[in-house]
Amino acid sequence: MASHPTSLDRRPVETSSGAFFKVAAMLLGFALAVVAFAAAMLWADARNARDDANSASQAASQVETHAALPLNSFAGVVPANAQALAEAHRAYDAALPAAKTGAVVQVHMTLKDMAVEIAPGVKYNTWSFSGHGAPGPIVRVREGQTVEMTLTNGGTIPHSIDFHAARIAPNRAFRDVAPGESFTFKFKASDPGVYMYHCGTKPVLAHIANGMYGAIVVTPTSKPLPKADEEYVLVASEWYLNGDGIKQPASLDMNKAHAMEPDWTTFNGYANQYVTHPLTADPGDTVRFWVVAAGPTLDTDFHVVGTIFDRAWPNANVTGTPQRGVQTVLVPAGGGGVFDVKIDEPGLYPFVSHAFAHVDLGQVGLLKVGNPKGTMSH
Ligand code: CU
Ligand code: CU
Repeated sequence: MASHPTSLDRRPVETSSGAFFKVAAMLLGFALAVVAFAAAMLWADARNARDDANSASQAASQVETHAALPLNSFAGVVPANAQALAEAHRAYDAALPAAKTGAVVQVHMTLKDMAVEIAPGVKYNTWSFSGHGAPGPIVRVREGQTVEMTLTNGGTIPHSIDFHAARIAPNRAFRDVAPGESFTFKFKASDPGVYMYHCGTKPVLAHIANGMYGAIVVTPTSKPLPKADEEYVLVASEWYLNGDGIKQPASLDMNKAHAMEPDWTTFNGYANQYVTHPLTADPGDTVRFWVVAAGPTLDTDFHVVGTIFDRAWPNANVTGTPQRGVQTVLVPAGGGGVFDVKIDEPGLYPFVSHAFAHVDLGQVGLLKVGNPKGTMSH
């Protein structure tokens, strides 16, 4: 029978003859050549990819340049009779509404497309939650109450409502509601604070920019806050206009919204409204501000000129220990904050976003303490 050599048979032969080393050296040389070739190819590929990336980014920057340059600002553009219009404007009522009794608080909002004034003589086509512009109504409940929210869509496209105060499956509760339809959902307000609500329908940037936002205040009952004499709710937001809004209402300029270059920034939807129509307090009162920054994108650096926060609850963490003696507190877009001031000396005390471009764009108001003489230059 023919016998086949086994590997055991072969190994000593190759080793002894030196053939193994020759073959190994040959293979090693070949392998090195392959590696060198592959490296060369990879380098060439990388160089090509880099060149491609460079030319793509050059092309992109050319496109961006073309998109960015025509952004035309309408900041501060108002008609000649702006002062008279500002005085005639009925300011959004910033007073914290009284809490309702009962275990369930029913809230009904009907969406409506409507043009509203956002600055003196400047109209904007909003998608309004409440039928009277932006922000939507202040919702006020007590910790532990259940909110039964009904949304009726009187607009022309789908909308929804997202409550930051809720712990709930968004796909169920914050779902789109078709035009002409109503939808009801409930949630228990278990977490005290001040929260944003807004339309969460895509593109959310456009829906918030068009005025679909508001504040819900959940006052704590498990650990009540110190007494306040006046309580005001401020919703900060910014507006991006495709025209000056004077002869005809402006609509959203999405390029400006992406570039974060607003034409107007406001408290409660209208530039400088509490400069013309100040919020009021008596000397020695504790005034509480419940602040939400609705954005859609920009934060608010809340500050009251001429005083220091006696108590500040950053992020509206009202069951936590307040910060004392702080000057300016960030309210992030989509977030809230609660601030107490006690002012003894009569005067006009501006409240602002201390990111001062916002003051020039309209995010400033006055707290009038007592009956001071004179006016405020801010
Ligand atoms: Cu919407
Ligand atoms: Cu949100």
